[in-house]
Amino acid sequence: MTFEIKDRAAGGRIGVFDTPHGKVTTPTLLPVVNPNLRLIAPKDMRRLFGTEMIITNSYILRQSEGLRERALSEGVHKVVDWDGPIMTDSGTFQSYMYGKVAVLPDEIIDFQKRIGVDVGTILDVFTTPDKTKDEASAELDETLVRAAAAAKAKDGMMLAATVQGGVHVDLRERAAKGIAALGVDLAPIGGVVPLMEQGKYATLARIILAAKRNLPSGLPVHLFGAGHPLVFPLAAALGCDLFDSASYAKYAKDDRLMFPWGTRSLTDLTELPCACPACDRWRTAAALRKAPPAERERTLAEHNLHVSFAEIRRIRQAIRDGTLWELVEERAVQNPALLDALRAVSEPSAVDQLERLEPVSANRAFTYKGPHTLHRPLVTRFHRRLLEAYRPQGKVCYVLPERSKPYGEAYGAYLDAFLAQDATFVVDSPLGPVPLELDLTFPVAQSVFPEILDEEARRVRQRFADAFFDKFQGCEILPFDAREYTDLAPEPTDACRDGWDARRLRAIADHQWGHDASDALLAKPLTYVRSPSNCRVRNVMSRGEHVMSLRAEDGLLSLRLAGARRIHAATASPRHRLVVDDDAGPFVASGKNVVARTVQRVDPALRPGDDAIVVTAKDELVGIGRMLLAASEVREVGRGLAAKTTDHVEAGG
Ligand code: GUN
Ligand code: ZN
Repeated sequence: MTFEIKDRAAGGRIGVFDTPHGKVTTPTLLPVVNPNLRLIAPKDMRRLFGTEMIITNSYILRQSEGLRERALSEGVHKVVDWDGPIMTDSGTFQSYMYGKVAVLPDEIIDFQKRIGVDVGTILDVFTTPDKTKDEASAELDETLVRAAAAAKAKDGMMLAATVQGGVHVDLRERAAKGIAALGVDLAPIGGVVPLMEQGKYATLARIILAAKRNLPSGLPVHLFGAGHPLVFPLAAALGCDLFDSASYAKYAKDDRLMFPWGTRSLTDLTELPCACPACDRWRTAAALRKAPPAERERTLAEHNLHVSFAEIRRIRQAIRDGTLWELVEERAVQNPALLDALRAVSEPSAVDQLERLEPVSANRAFTYKGPHTLHRPLVTRFHRRLLEAYRPQGKVCYVLPERSKPYGEAYGAYLDAFLAQDATFVVDSPLGPVPLELDLTFPVAQSVFPEILDEEARRVRQRFADAFFDKFQGCEILPFDAREYTDLAPEPTDACRDGWDARRLRAIADHQWGHDASDALLAKPLTYVRSPSNCRVRNVMSRGEHVMSLRAEDGLLSLRLAGARRIHAATASPRHRLVVDDDAGPFVASGKNVVARTVQRVDPALRPGDDAIVVTAKDELVGIGRMLLAASEVREVGRGLAAKTTDHVEAGG
């Protein structure tokens, strides 16, 4: 395994792809270097755009007399003058363009090995979107035969084996399963260029999802022929790690400028709406139009790569911030064809697939962008957990109009009166009815919504509200009426209230861990350590031991050792657990992080950001790990950490 996941958001990840010529941070873009055309030298690409890896074509090298001999004697790195990682394609695209190629599948694998490429590609059969299921299935059979043969013959070369299958989701699934079984190093998704050219992004999204749910998480995924920055955020959010672009050069030849939101022809431009260094040299569209053709082409190619790499960096930052969905939604507003893809990823099966990968909170606010926002996996999870785990209280549920956040402060003057009533209080928020106890918890406090929601969001919210109030069978649902509270004592809104905090901790623990763990965690006696400035509970203690902390950033609970012991005693393995092998136990016990390879079992409910209790196969508690991966991924990655150890049973470490 040569890929390690470092960080994540939506279905996307920051990864490190390890090749013989160095490590590459993903998501990234591999500019296509045509060995016959020298538009921008690869070395310049590194300097100008931060390019880390390039892709060139082994078929073109092999067909060209001079290049072929040089590549064989000096190696591909000398021929293209690039000492970093090189991937080569195989001639598949040429066979798609021209109907056939003059090379056999095993010959092109052998050639790629002999010229020393880092990652070679099989000669897959390019299955076009117009193929019937039977045709596509037969072509897929052939692709899989070639992939299996190449996997046997690859020796030291890393191998990319393409997932084909046309537009047929079940064939894409079969393809991915077949490729996954071969132990290759990269899984490109192929046959999608016509879809991207036609703007069929919904179909593209369904194809990527079908492939991804059958490929192990530890296998990086390349989207073949995706060279327009328009598609990068969506594809990255669905779990694509590598892109390749010949478009930057093709568009430049046609006098076209790429932008993250679409394409403009230089002839149509009066202004030059770009601040990249290439455009900056010319300042106006008219000046660039009058430039000598070679210089103009070079400028446009540079512009296209500047813009593409900037979008890649934006995606990486969005992954680190936890705002990749926001970026996807922004791009979709800018290009309606992408809105169709957002519809596809709002389908329940897609949301379920992506929810399993979604971290529990983000470093930045959850920001409304449009009709898709309430379909985000995080919202579906939030709603689902409220329905499953929230425990209403009393025979009346009061619905409070939304006020400023956090809601508990906005309603601070009422809290004592509320507490005296044995009733439930929910805020009519943009996310739907939210229990007042969850006012600090992600994404309630950390969300930004407009005052007026779009129709679609209102529909999702209403559907949830109906389901939520169904929980209150036999309860009266009443609107909050401020007139019933005329004789409230004027008091600070941030007073210390043990009773209210007990309810808050119960609701958060239910939400995070479900009733079994929550009941154990909150068994009395408990005392609170509060923030001196605002009286909020920071730490929950029991007989001098630290049970858990309430995090200021996301209003979620962090387990501490005494809390882990409580959950451990109250639940059976593997619930809430990462079970590590006997060799790893002592390391975690002394504070070392949890290496994914050492995990034997994992509670399938764990999500990135969750606290898991770490135990040995004999169910001995050794520590607490904050999940860096989703449960479904832990046993699918060959490298890296499953969880960061936040507390452990042995002193020191
Ligand atoms: N380049 C663009 N699409 C494809 C594809 O499906 N397979 C290969 N090998 N290369 C491509
Ligand atoms: Zn520019």
